[in-house]
Amino acid sequence: MIRMLDEAVERQEVHGCCTAVKKTLEHIVNSGEDFIPAEYLQTAPDRYARRLLHLDPRQRYSVLVMVWDKDQGTSLHDHAGMWCVECVYRGRIKVTSYSCTGINEGLHQFTPELEVFASPGEAGALIPPFDHHTLANADATPAVTLHVYGGEMRWCDAFVPVEGGYQMVKRELAYTQ
Ligand SMILES: [Fe+2]
Repeated sequence: MIRMLDEAVERQEVHGCCTAVKKTLEHIVNSGEDFIPAEYLQTAPDRYARRLLHLDPRQRYSVLVMVWDKDQGTSLHDHAGMWCVECVYRGRIKVTSYSCTGINEGLHQFTPELEVFASPGEAGALIPPFDHHTLANADATPAVTLHVYGGEMRWCDAFVPVEGGYQMVKRELAYTQ
């Protein structure tokens, strides 16, 4: 997988790079092989688990494993200006995309666009500024997703619903032990 991703990110053009990364993830997950070590697949009690599987030595991309227990999900978020490709490895994930329609009195305005239920081997690419979404486990059993980002994502902006819109909050992103 690393060799294929190294080749994919050699592409300078972001759409071509994301397409190649997406094909790589789909290909590897659809091979049916259990290639993620068991220690990466444990759920965490309070929130979805987020673990670093690989960081490119040249920092061009990182590969994360996320594990979603029943009812776990994200708030509405962006990706710190990085491209990202997300692929379901096990279980089923509900992805809801949003479009930002503007900022009104300091509050972001969002409209939900598309709701997709993704199964193992199904991937999606997000390229800023069209990269606002929520992810949630769609089922009562744990789900696992693979995420490739165009760098190491240490923070992102989350958008908390309040009266009149969404309040933007910078979130530090840590790895789960
Ligand atoms: Fe995301």
